[in-house]
Amino acid sequence: MKKWFMPGLITACCLIAVLMVFFSLQDKEPSGGTHEAAPSAPAAPATVDAEAATAIYKSNCLSCHGDQLQGGMGPALAKVGADMSDADIHKQIANGGGGMPPFKGTLTDEEIATVTAWLAAKK
Ligand code: HEC
Repeated sequence: MKKWFMPGLITACCLIAVLMVFFSLQDKEPSGGTHEAAPSAPAAPATVDAEAATAIYKSNCLSCHGDQLQGGMGPALAKVGADMSDADIHKQIANGGGGMPPFKGTLTDEEIATVTAWLAAKK
């Protein structure tokens, strides 16, 4: 075996390792960047009026969904935003169903939208 073979091999391995680290870092950056650049723009409500939402919730929903959103006669809503879309939550509040009364006539569209945005943010 020639004298230069082992040092040469080690150098080549180091170079490959450095290149692999370099490329794996490069791979990560753009995907992380895209993730931050697209924060579900259309779904995010401009502002969630938590105070108004809580007031509406307390007088209309608390009896069935609990004072801590823990549920009761109705299901828990503490993480409802994780499994339901804004549209689904809105529909459920407006139309009711499955034992829940519709709130279309009781609450204004704005009130329903306020509670919807508030609940949709519960993940
Ligand atoms: C009379 C009791 C009652 C009241 C009052 C009530 N709900 Fe419900 N709610 C229910 C029941 C029962 C369900 C389950 C419906 C089903 O499984 O289809 C439900 C389901 C829901 C869901 C869907 C949750 C899921 O995981 O499927 C949302 C969101 C919701 N209610 C929000 C509200 C809001 C907001 C109010 C007040 C404006 C309210 N509810 C008032 C009984 C009620």
